[in-house]
Parts: sequence; C-alpha cells; structure tokens
Amino acid sequence: MTMTYFTEGQSVAEVLGRHGPNVDERLAEVFGSLVSHLHAFAKEVVLTESEWEVAISFLTRTGQLCSDQRQEFILLSDVLGLSMLVDAVNHRRPPGATDSTVFGPFHVDGAPVRAMGDDICLDGKGESCLFTGRVLDLAGEPVDGACVDVWSDNADGFYDVQQPDEQPRWNNRGRFLTGPDGRYEFRGIKPTSYPIPDDGPVGQLLGQLGRHPYRPAHVHFLVTAPNHQRLVTHTFVAGDPYLTSDSVFGVKESLVTEYERLDDQEVQWRCHFDFVLAPDDPGPEGALGA
Ligand code: BEZ
Ligand code: FE
Repeated sequence: MTMTYFTEGQSVAEVLGRHGPNVDERLAEVFGSLVSHLHAFAKEVVLTESEWEVAISFLTRTGQLCSDQRQEFILLSDVLGLSMLVDAVNHRRPPGATDSTVFGPFHVDGAPVRAMGDDICLDGKGESCLFTGRVLDLAGEPVDGACVDVWSDNADGFYDVQQPDEQPRWNNRGRFLTGPDGRYEFRGIKPTSYPIPDDGPVGQLLGQLGRHPYRPAHVHFLVTAPNHQRLVTHTFVAGDPYLTSDSVFGVKESLVTEYERLDDQEVQWRCHFDFVLAPDDPGPEGALGA
C-alpha cells in the first residue's frame, strides 16, 4: 500500500497501512476490524476532545481498580453485553444441549468435593433448598463421572470471597461427582438477587445510564465430564423481578427454573434441573446444529 499522510477520509487505511511484514493473520483481521469500527464510531458521533478525555479517564480508573481480587474490565465487558456476546458466538451448542451463560468473577478453583446430598450452606442463613437433577448427554443417557461445581451467594447477597471475615470459607460452594445414574443432589439455599460491584467506574456508568446494578437470583454451575464440552451456566429463580433486566444480560429463558415450595420444616424449597452436555468433538457437521 502507498503511504500517504493521515486524513479524516483515509484514516483507517493510513493506520492499517503501517503494519510491518509477517503480522499474524488473525491479529491483522481483529485489529483491522477494531480500528475500522473505532474510527467509524468517532466520525459518526463527531467525538469531542473533552469526551475523548472522559473516556481515557474512565478506562484509566477501570484499570487502576483491577487487582487479584477485582476485575473491573471484565465487569465493563459484562455490562456492555460483550461477555455474553463472546459466549454466544463461541458456544453455539447443538439443539438440546443446556445453554451457557456468563462465568462471573466469583468462581474459586478447588471447592471441596462433597458427598451427594451434602449441605453447601455453611453460615446457616437463608431458606434451605434441595437441588436435584441429572447430567445427561444429547441422547438423554446419564453421564458418569461428571463434576458439578456449584457456587452461589448467601442470603445477604454476597459470595464468601466478598466477605472473607464474615462468611465461612467455601460457603455455598462445592463439587459433586456423578455416578452411573448421572444424578446430583445437594442442599443449599434459594438464592437472592444482588447488585454487581458498583462502587467503581462501571457502577458510575450504570448510574449515568439510568441502569440498576442488580442480577436476578441465580445459582452458578460449571459442569465438566470426559469427552464433553465444559458447560458454564446458571439456573435462575422463576418470578425474580430482575429476570428481564439482568445488569450483565446473562438470562436465557431455558435457564429459568421453578422453585417448588416443600411442606417440610427443614427444607423449604426444591429445585430440579437436568444439565445436557454437548459432545467434545462436534464432528464434520460442526457444532451449529440448526
Ligand atoms: C455473578 O453472577 O457472579 C456476576 C457476573 C458478572 C458480573 C458480576 C457478578
Ligand atoms: Fe453470581
């Protein structure tokens, strides 16, 4: 490409024309598209210098808040709908497989492996709920040796890692390994809706946009099994007022689950959900299915 000077009309070509030889093909594709959309955006809105400064300051504060404990950039991606979009374009599952959703920042590797039926609620707060279901393959056959890794907030709407001095370690977390019948069963609590961390720039942005920071009540699951695709998902509580306005756009209709009221002193609710895993190798037809 002939090198010229930067002009408004030729801005994209000028930037992309500076690439050296042997640039990775995928990098060139992704960066090229990014620059072209970014320039089109700035031209469309006629971005002012003070708006550009606000954006730079916002991104700077977002980065400054990131640490081992906090990932404000992922939170930004979440509230922009980008996390769910990346999930959607990367996990076009075959029909019948359980839908995935956003991973979120509160998973902790290495939760205790518990016995079927165990109670994961260690702080004694909340309404007790029996969670039951099976891990199945696309043919409806039980999956033996699946790991159902579960995590959830407590009755006050906080994960154990957000309150290390108040909640017992591994509160509302555990891993359950299925046998040949594919079944899992544990006790936990009926989860509550809670706000995403909103004391930083992302929370400020939500405020300015007139958006609330709440997520509808949900339980997180990471389901893994040999020869099957890893499934990152939640189940949501039917009837939750935030189902259609989740601050991170994580809700899918197929994941909304009824909680059945039990006539029991000890366990007040039951929630049943079967996870259907897609096979590891989608084969020559690809994973798109439909
Ligand atoms: C969560 O559900 O744990 C979560 C997801 C995205 C952002 C913040 C929290
Ligand atoms: Fe969550």
